[in-house]
Amino acid sequence: MATAAAPGPDRSATPGPGRSAPAIGPRQLRRTLGQFATGVTVVTAQLGEQRVAMTANAVSSVSLDPPLVLVCPDNRTRTLALIKEAGAFAINILSEEQEWIGRHCAVRETAATDRLAIVPHRIGRSGAPILDGCLAYLDCRLWADYPGGDHTIVVGEVVDHKAASGGRPVLFYGGRFTSLVEAALTLLRTHHPPNPMAGDFWG
Ligand SMILES: Cc1cc2nc3c(=O)[nH]c(=O)nc-3n(C[C@H](O)[C@H](O)[C@H](O)COP(=O)(O)O)c2cc1C
Repeated sequence: MATAAAPGPDRSATPGPGRSAPAIGPRQLRRTLGQFATGVTVVTAQLGEQRVAMTANAVSSVSLDPPLVLVCPDNRTRTLALIKEAGAFAINILSEEQEWIGRHCAVRETAATDRLAIVPHRIGRSGAPILDGCLAYLDCRLWADYPGGDHTIVVGEVVDHKAASGGRPVLFYGGRFTSLVEAALTLLRTHHPPNPMAGDFWG
C-alpha cells in the first residue's frame, strides 16, 4: 500500500554523509525566477505613528472562500515586523504611472525612514495605508504566517478590496520594471526589425 508523503521540508535533500548539498545559488535562482513576469505591488502596514511600505512581487491569491491572499516578505524587512505587530496589511497593485512608487519603496532605508511621507494615501478598513490611484488594493487582516526559509509566507484574509475601472499595470520582468506597451513593442521589434531601406512603421 502506498504511503502518503510526509508534509514539510524534504529531509532527503539535507546534506549528509555521501550526499552533497544541492548547488542552487541565490543569484542564479533569482535570474531564473526573473523569467516569471509579474505585476508590482506595495505592501503597507501601520500601527500608531509607525508605518511601512515595501515593494513586493512575491504575491499570490490563495483562496476565494474564505478570501485569502499571500505575500512573502524577507525575514529581515521592517514590513514583516510591523505586519505581525499590527495584525493587518494591504497589498496595493501599482499602475503604470506609479512605477516611481515601486522604485521608491524598494530602496533600502534606515529604520527611521517614512517612505509614505511622499506617497498620497488613506487608511483602509484594516488600519493599513491604501495608496491613492493604485490599480487595485486588497486590505487584509493577518490570517496566518508560515516559515519559508529566509522569507515568511504571510496569509491575509481580505476585509476590503477594489479594482479601478481603467488603467494599466506596471510589470517586473527580467529584473527590470516594464509595461504592457513596452513588452508589446519589444515583441514587434523582434519579429519585424526596422528595415532602413523601406519606409516601415518604425519610421
Ligand atoms: C519589483 C520588486 C519586487 C520585490 N519583491 C519583494 C518581495 O516579494 N518580498 C521581499 O521581501 N522583498 C521584495 N523586494 C525588495 C524590497 O522591496 C526591499 O528589500 C525593501 O527595501 C524592503 O523594505 P523594508 O525593509 O523597509 O520593509 C522587491 C523589490 C522589487 C524592486
